[in-house]
Amino acid sequence: MTVRAWGCYLARVRLAVSLTCALGTALALGCSKAEPERPPAGKAADTGSEADDQSRFDRQRRPEVIVEMLGLKPGMTVADIGAGTGLLTVHLVAAVAPGGHVVATDIDGSVLDHLRARMNAAGYDRLVERRVVKPTDPGLEPARYDAILLARVDHYFGDRVGWLSRARLALVKGGKLAISNRVHHRAAAMHAAAAAGFELVSETGAIPGEFVAVFEVKP
Ligand SMILES: C[S@@+](CC[C@H](N)C(=O)[O-])C[C@H]1O[C@@H](n2cnc3c(N)ncnc32)[C@H](O)[C@@H]1O
Repeated sequence: MTVRAWGCYLARVRLAVSLTCALGTALALGCSKAEPERPPAGKAADTGSEADDQSRFDRQRRPEVIVEMLGLKPGMTVADIGAGTGLLTVHLVAAVAPGGHVVATDIDGSVLDHLRARMNAAGYDRLVERRVVKPTDPGLEPARYDAILLARVDHYFGDRVGWLSRARLALVKGGKLAISNRVHHRAAAMHAAAAAGFELVSETGAIPGEFVAVFEVKP
């Protein structure tokens, strides 16, 4: 290849890489290191305003569906597992305020810093507790939670059944577990939830490309 042809080839490769990154950034919302396509925490403003990120997320992920399926009401206590930067958390806390409480966990403390800024801006900081947890440990107190949400996180668990069995102990009597993820993770999630002692009480495919399944502890 001549020097000139080589230069053209490199320019094309650079263009392809930048387009791929831009597309990944546009699609990636609310995650952390575990999702390689997401920009580092604190960089979201590079792709548009926080309000734009939130409204794009809300259009795609329809948080109101999860809030309704979990039956969230003021005064409830909810755990948001793998909360990331808090794009869903802000809807959970809005549903349980006033008087309610959200515990937002993540294995990555830096995303929780971003979540804190989001909660501050929305006026909910005092209702949301952030917890950095170990990958195998839900990090939740026993018999405290009306609802536990796992949104796009259960596929990261090394042992789904073990993790869900430990989380089961954190629910109050009649408490609900919601698992929401891309449809290709559905079979593994359903199998693990049943093996961990949960029974399915409702499910929807109302969010494009996703399933949302709500469980209670088997009697
Ligand atoms: C794809 S993001 C999902 C963020 C948010 N829940 C959502 O639905 O947009 C997954 C998040 O889960 C976190 N995570 C991965 N494994 C985890 C674990 N075992 N416990 C808690 N958080 C975890 C990652 O750090 C990341 O912030």
